[in-house]
Amino acid sequence: MTKIKIKVENSVPSQQKSAFSVKWSSKILQKEGVRNVAEYGCGRLRNLPVLLKYFDTVDLIETTNQYDRFKELVPKRNNLRFFPEKEFLKINSKYEAIFMISFLHVIPENKKRKQILKTSFERLKPGGYLVVDVPQSETYYNRRKHLMIPHKDGWALKWGPAYTFYKSYYAKDLDSLVEKTTGMTLFQKADYSKHLIRIWKK
Ligand SMILES: C[S@@+](CC[C@H](N)C(=O)[O-])C[C@H]1O[C@@H](n2cnc3c(N)ncnc32)[C@H](O)[C@@H]1O
Repeated sequence: MTKIKIKVENSVPSQQKSAFSVKWSSKILQKEGVRNVAEYGCGRLRNLPVLLKYFDTVDLIETTNQYDRFKELVPKRNNLRFFPEKEFLKINSKYEAIFMISFLHVIPENKKRKQILKTSFERLKPGGYLVVDVPQSETYYNRRKHLMIPHKDGWALKWGPAYTFYKSYYAKDLDSLVEKTTGMTLFQKADYSKHLIRIWKK
């Protein structure tokens, strides 16, 4: 049996354009008065231009590996900070909204997904919002399915020298994960081109 070692950082067949979910939700959240936000699992910063356009302050969080790879790409501005996750867990900043865009589905351990959701919930101010965008149902990775091996509750995909993890969510699984872990209320939702998009309110 193949020993599978997942490398979450390799999970991006890299997209250049900001995600639809970020544009859609940012307009809504700006109208709700949101000013300070964070993106957990920000990757190569494709969503940053939209976040900076709609909000006053932005914090970005990545793994230590990605932090080291991308820190030079982050513009030096006094309303923008970039943290490796282990530093983010030590600070106590609070946000009016936290974005998780194409993020939760690359985390192989359910325990870690719950820890990320709980931490984010704690970091939201009362009435704050959590924006989640994940691939929908089983269709998203069909093109690569022949390369995928069942792994935990999703799939391992050989991508370059390492394996990455993907889970395709059904709406009821995602909603139950977030609701049971955080107790937040679903505020708005959208389906867009094989993505499940949700805004929850604390
Ligand atoms: C598929 S990418 C999406 C990146 C970005 N949100 C986007 O929309 O382009 C998922 C990102 O989550 C990051 N990631 C995985 N586990 C993480 C963790 N525990 N803390 C912070 N980032 C993490 C990965 O390194 C990767 O860059």
